[in-house]
Amino acid sequence: MTRDTKIANDTPPPAAMLSNKHLLGIQGMPIPEINALLERAHFFADRPKTLFADVLANITVLNMFFENSTRTRVSFELAAKRLGASVLNISVNSSSVKKGETLIDTATTLNAMRPDILVARHHASGAPLLLSQHVDAAVINAGDGRHEHPTQALLDALTIKRSLGKIAGLKIAICGDIDNSRVARSNLYLLSALGADVRFVSPATLVSPYFSEMGVPVYTDMEQGISGCDIIMMLRLQTERMEGRETPSQHEYFHFFGLDTRKLQKAAPNAFIMHPGPMNRGVEIDSKIADDNSKSLIRTQVELGVATRMACLEAIAGASTRVRI
Ligand code: CP
Repeated sequence: MTRDTKIANDTPPPAAMLSNKHLLGIQGMPIPEINALLERAHFFADRPKTLFADVLANITVLNMFFENSTRTRVSFELAAKRLGASVLNISVNSSSVKKGETLIDTATTLNAMRPDILVARHHASGAPLLLSQHVDAAVINAGDGRHEHPTQALLDALTIKRSLGKIAGLKIAICGDIDNSRVARSNLYLLSALGADVRFVSPATLVSPYFSEMGVPVYTDMEQGISGCDIIMMLRLQTERMEGRETPSQHEYFHFFGLDTRKLQKAAPNAFIMHPGPMNRGVEIDSKIADDNSKSLIRTQVELGVATRMACLEAIAGASTRVRI
């Protein structure tokens, strides 16, 4: 089987059919389901945004973000609205969570109002899985702790596929704070499954030996790590998940691991730069590179987030309807 299916729009691809009711992670997701989501997202991305306004007309989507978000929360809301769903955003700061209500009590309370889909972000790894075990609604993981961020990996894969025409055979370096990154994990699973040669580039203090033991090539020298790579995916230093001893200083981190013009020369001549955002300019990436639209795919990643989440919501709504029937 070819892992990297052609992405073409001669005939509209059907809505992706998923075997699971919930979308909790990329690990273990069948490759045909990943490809079906990417093909459908690619189709949505090139169509007028008003064309699909009745697809989820009877569906209610609840966005529950227990951690800050700009891109993921807004793009899930836009995606749901473009498909005609009703959308509610739970503001955790003004909810009864602030009075000490537990995650499960909050979720079961909201579930009693019969939403169809819960989009959940939480600082604890495994929170969306726990929610899925206590609610009738289908759960989409919008990022949980250090575990997974499946829709980010899907939008990243779509961005790469549309920019380079393929994923299989590409050399992709995921660079920076690996240990604290759910984006690194989801992208490792997804891009490897589609045939890319994925490596991690990180200070030894920010990448667990577990990854080398798993067989992932790990480089602790940035120039060696990105040498000849087609995609350089930079990650944010996630200080909110650190204990304070992982990097000597942000200045020193930028010197050794920040992407600048000099280090980028080691990559393949037409290499593209990615970053899931939010960026720490001057810490993991130089502004000159981040803002150079001939090299940077960062704006495209954000743009394709909406189409990707449309494909995911549509597929999950279909899967949850089938389960209910
Ligand atoms: N990439 C990402 O998850 O960004 P937000 O935290 O803004 O949603």
